[in-house]
Amino acid sequence: MFNLDVPFFPEQASSLAGRIDGFIFSLVGLSAFFATIVAILIVYFGVKYRYGNKEVDRTNPMQENSKLEFGWSFIPLVISLTVFVWSAQVYFEIYTPPQDTLNLSVIGKQWMWKIQHPDGRREANELHIPVGQAVKLTMTSQDVIHSFFIPAFRVKQDVIPGRFTTMWFEATKVGEYHLFCAEYCGAEHSRMIGRVVVMEPTEYEEWLREGNALTSAGGTDSSGAALFQQQGCSTCHKLDGGKGLGPNLTGVYNSEVALESGGTVLADEEYLRESITNPQTRIVAGYPEIMPTYQGQLSPEELLTLVDYLKSLGSGETAALEN
Ligand code: CUA
Repeated sequence: MFNLDVPFFPEQASSLAGRIDGFIFSLVGLSAFFATIVAILIVYFGVKYRYGNKEVDRTNPMQENSKLEFGWSFIPLVISLTVFVWSAQVYFEIYTPPQDTLNLSVIGKQWMWKIQHPDGRREANELHIPVGQAVKLTMTSQDVIHSFFIPAFRVKQDVIPGRFTTMWFEATKVGEYHLFCAEYCGAEHSRMIGRVVVMEPTEYEEWLREGNALTSAGGTDSSGAALFQQQGCSTCHKLDGGKGLGPNLTGVYNSEVALESGGTVLADEEYLRESITNPQTRIVAGYPEIMPTYQGQLSPEELLTLVDYLKSLGSGETAALEN
């Protein structure tokens, strides 16, 4: 874990922050090292070979030194490969969430962030999360491209209309941090800001309960299970191994799905979303092209809720364990 308190740098408040800073500062150090050598040599040769200096040899004879040539090829090769392997490791950590995550949904719209917690509590421009727990966000936009950016966690991800993107992080310190939109999205872009509140897990539970007491009072059932019935999904898609006109959806999330066109696809959030809005694009092997498109029938919230519901039916890994 790399830790450096640079005064003009955002605080390190996630499990990845130290890894990312360590890498960035190493790159800066490496560049500074070579830039310094080059700068010193420019000055040195500038003075030494200045106009009118008769003390120096300007004949410039041909010289060969294969050890030197091998050295200046091999050393940079080792350095650049080290940088490549190191950055690839960090990259894979950023893009590989752990198995057990708290899953939240985020919707960006001009000009606010809407966030939904697993048990239905919603909030705007604020993100409450427990400390020491990996959190995964599934995000989409209602209008234009936004970008969800938490500097203290060193995470940033574009939020795109008609597509689901995901990101994860684990907060390591209780506190409040900035939340920004980092993609120019219109006149009020600079005011599309908020805060991330990292709480002790018990406080977070308490906070969730307070909210549910507020929201569960009356209103229609907008849970994923209810939507699955209302929208008619359950007519064709059976659960728990049952056979229907469409694929069984228990354990579909995170599983490898064979496609009618050949090949397979990982059924992640984005594939599930696409299969609802554009079902003809990537058909599951062995099924006819009969599902109607739900493009425009479901709001971004409803899409997120439905996909959350499908995820709650178990994932590829757990399904494989049960069989
Ligand atoms: Cu949303 Cu900038």
